[in-house]
Amino acid sequence: MQTPPATPLRLGSRTKLTIALVGAGLWASGGLWLIFHYYLRRPGPWGPEPHLLEPWWLRLHGLFAFAALWLIGLLCGLHIIRAWQSGRRRWSGSVLLTWLLALTLSGYLLIYAGDDGAWGLLSPTHWIAGLALPVIYGFHRLIRFLRRP
Ligand code: HEM
Ligand code: HEM
Repeated sequence: MQTPPATPLRLGSRTKLTIALVGAGLWASGGLWLIFHYYLRRPGPWGPEPHLLEPWWLRLHGLFAFAALWLIGLLCGLHIIRAWQSGRRRWSGSVLLTWLLALTLSGYLLIYAGDDGAWGLLSPTHWIAGLALPVIYGFHRLIRFLRRP
């Protein structure tokens, strides 16, 4: 039986577009939640109340988070394992993957760790790492330009 041809290391334009769309959706939904939570509270009879849209940004974020997990799994098969074997961009790729896993773990804990003090640390850890994600991703993509003389 013939072995199937090896997948090329470079990613197709559709895969790259999917990464960009899921990443932008995650970032925008998280960012909108931050703006609505910290700046757009409405005065209520018992003090400031959450804006009506605030919980919807988190629901949308959850949807994109599911898509992100699916995409990370897909990239393991399409890109990460073979890229690792090639020995190239190991540092920037590992930092990006670790970053994504840390976001996944802190996101999981935000749902299930309960609210006895953990939220105060987990929430900013998660969203600061989240806001910085495009920089880590951009670094992995553009590192070849930094290396060239
Ligand atoms: C240990 C993990 C990883 C390693 C070793 C790695 C390695 C590499 C290498 C060697 C390239 C250059 C491919 C080429 O131009 O021939 C590359 C490009 C790329 N990587 Fe990674 N990577 C890793 C993780 C990731 C992750 C987690 C993502 C996305 C979430 C990602 C997204 C990309 C993209 C979009 C490109 C550009 C591909 C292209 O232009 O066709 N990588 N990576
Ligand atoms: C792999 C990537 C990510 C995953 C799996 C993920 C997952 C999650 C999960 C599960 C939650 C809890 C939702 C809830 O309580 O109902 C959450 C909350 C949140 N995420 Fe993400 N997230 C990711 C990336 C990001 C990014 C890129 C940002 C950028 C700003 C971000 C910002 C936020 C914010 C602001 C919250 C609300 C924090 C809170 O409830 O205190 N996340 N995320």
